[in-house]
Amino acid sequence: MKLFRPLRSALWLGAVLSPVLPRAAADPAHPVVGFAQTGAESAWRTANTESMKSEAARRGIELKFSDGQGKQENQIRAVRSFITQGVDAIVIAPLVETGWDPVLREAKEAKIPVIITDRTIETADPDSYVCFIGSDFAQEGKMAADWLAAHHPAPGRIVELQGTPGSAPANERHRAFAAALAGYPRLQVIDAQSGDFRRAGGKEVMEAMLKKHGRDFDIVYAHNDDMALGAVQAIEEAGLKPGQDIMIVSIDAIREGVQAVIDGKINCVVECNPLFGPAVYDTIAKILRGEPVPRKTFNHDELFDATNAARVIAQRQY
Ligand code: AHR
Repeated sequence: MKLFRPLRSALWLGAVLSPVLPRAAADPAHPVVGFAQTGAESAWRTANTESMKSEAARRGIELKFSDGQGKQENQIRAVRSFITQGVDAIVIAPLVETGWDPVLREAKEAKIPVIITDRTIETADPDSYVCFIGSDFAQEGKMAADWLAAHHPAPGRIVELQGTPGSAPANERHRAFAAALAGYPRLQVIDAQSGDFRRAGGKEVMEAMLKKHGRDFDIVYAHNDDMALGAVQAIEEAGLKPGQDIMIVSIDAIREGVQAVIDGKINCVVECNPLFGPAVYDTIAKILRGEPVPRKTFNHDELFDATNAARVIAQRQY
């Protein structure tokens, strides 16, 4: 796999100029960037943070990094602090979809361009940020449902392990999966609960589901690999065989998830590439040079199952 592979196949939707004029003092090649990260809930998130940090270091960009520790108020406080410090650009990976308008207004008034990365937001002012760079979560949910329909021809009862409530990936992966499943009425979601994108959360929820439903379900749809891997532990501890007694489909395709596919414990992982660093800093440089940038850039994500997981594992970068 070549570095920046997702960028080569990124889907660009429209092009926009920054709604705020870049400040003359900013050096487009070596800006000061503030990054408000959600937290460190998953291996995906760790890889995302590492991509942002290592790419900044490689380019000689000063990165002010803030770990929101899973709290939106921490992220908002970090953005305010970046504004006070007068950074050249702000990057936000928004924990949840709503509640960003006041702080985005403050950034706009301070004439600091904002890039939303990873998760989309709902906003009353579309000009409150310049652009979005991330994955198509709805497409991922649909890919998971279509794979299940093709590989589970019999009636199937599904337990859904959901991500952080109110977050774009939890909302979109849920909605798109449900919409696609409507075309396959033999497959039914019988229960759903949030494991907060965490491995411990996935394990706890799966323990509770096994207690509540016993063997009355035979499929797990997990919104990320960490929760799926937690579920694998719970299923094994209950004396069952994950991947056989219970089919598991999840999203992210972290290396451990792909390995679990090879081991036959997870049946399919849909990719969600976290390596945004290069795309984000290329975009910031363009914005600071006053050039137009795509309003939305989506990574191209693939799907791995028993047919191709062994072929790709050595090249996984996260
Ligand atoms: O927003 C991306 C999601 O957040 C990833 O799928 C998940 O692992 C992470 O915590």
